[in-house]
Amino acid sequence: MNELSKVTSENISSDVMDRELMVTYPTEAFLSKEYLEAEKKLLWPKIWQMVERETDLPNPGDWMTYDVAEESIVVLRKDDGSLKAFHNVCPHRGRQLVSVPDMLPGKVHDVRGNNRRNFVCGFHGWTFDLEGNNTYILDPQDWGEGALTPEMTCLSEVKVDTWGGYIYINMDPDCIPLKEWMGRAGEILDHFDLAGMRYKWRQWAIYPCNWKVAIEAFLEPYHVAGTHTQLLAYGDYYALSKQYGLHSVSSYDTRDDKFKMSESAGTTRAGKGDDPRVSTYELIRENYETVNYSASTETLVKAASRLVDELPETATPAECIAHWIKSAKADDAARGVIWPEVPPEIKQESGLAWGLWPNQNILHGETFALCYRVRPYGDDPNKCVFESYALERFPEGEEPKTEWVYAEPNGENWGSVLAQDFSNMEFVQKGMKSSGFRGPLPNPHQEQKVINLHRNLADWMEGRGAVTLYHKN
Ligand code: FES
Ligand SMILES: [Fe+2]
Repeated sequence: MNELSKVTSENISSDVMDRELMVTYPTEAFLSKEYLEAEKKLLWPKIWQMVERETDLPNPGDWMTYDVAEESIVVLRKDDGSLKAFHNVCPHRGRQLVSVPDMLPGKVHDVRGNNRRNFVCGFHGWTFDLEGNNTYILDPQDWGEGALTPEMTCLSEVKVDTWGGYIYINMDPDCIPLKEWMGRAGEILDHFDLAGMRYKWRQWAIYPCNWKVAIEAFLEPYHVAGTHTQLLAYGDYYALSKQYGLHSVSSYDTRDDKFKMSESAGTTRAGKGDDPRVSTYELIRENYETVNYSASTETLVKAASRLVDELPETATPAECIAHWIKSAKADDAARGVIWPEVPPEIKQESGLAWGLWPNQNILHGETFALCYRVRPYGDDPNKCVFESYALERFPEGEEPKTEWVYAEPNGENWGSVLAQDFSNMEFVQKGMKSSGFRGPLPNPHQEQKVINLHRNLADWMEGRGAVTLYHKN
């Protein structure tokens, strides 16, 4: 018999995670239709979730739809520059106010437009202004004099706020403020001024796995050695991870003290090998080129390529990183890209990438971010909407014009590293259905972001999928 046994059926506390104890959780969150139905009630209508970048709705009258599970939301920019959001449903007999077809590969990502003055329902013509007030009903006297009140005939409002240049919504009128929701994770990431970055590219796909399997494939670097084997030639991928309440972070760790420095937790770290001038360049170039030109910038890659000319052979990893960052920063400043000043202790704590619960992951730097967002697709727990995008800090006015592009999940569209990740996700979804699968055994040190995803889900899902503790008999 296995010497480890399950000792409690209660969801673990964050303290268990901090102590890095061994835990497991059932597969129902990934596979069960009942669980997916419960998400529609207990999760999506209750949480703060990211809709889009603010820059996509720059002008008064700009609007778009955001759909998740069976909910559809209209978000718009008002004349005073503030944002407003409504449930996308007419209060008369429930037609969608704006018709939103199901997301369709190559065709429909969302519905959006400009110069909106009002919304007219296509069924019986009830009309609403940008505040959501009803401004027109055909034959209101038929209901009886004064029977229809403004509260009965206005649109249902949804909470909307912004953080880091993102528009967020929450359908729960009693929810905590977004700032509180973001917590320490938000405070740390604020140092990186994500709001000052713009889209470099953005792609989406319908992918055959549960949304949790999809986001989990990007939460931890523990899989690099097994999945992205080619990257081991350039650097070590030992990682640590840590819960921050709802959210959580992963960082590169090191077993070798000479590589320990405030820069070494993220992508601006030294490569392995005898000459850090060469290996640091090779590490960042390989990452940049095989992760679809993201997770770094051309400025950083070029500055790294000059290390071998600009530094003596005796340069230590710490000297290489210091010189690299300084020269990349100067190169960027010369073209009008000013880096935010991130204090070293924040840089260290900020690590490599943040899991923003429940469905986002952001790998950040001072001038770039590589991000993921996933959502369920239809009523099938085996499908999800997978989105990834790169942000970058551009000189004013030089940001590229981008829009959501449907891209089949392959190496040509997404780069060879993401293609390797795709090659796992579908088969995790299949594998977990095996009657021989005893349940996940996540790494308590390196995969805390995955554990924390489930711990928080169980809290919102009335205990479904609880993360439980193992201990040695
Ligand atoms: S359902 Fe909208 S006006 Fe009738
Ligand atoms: Fe990966």
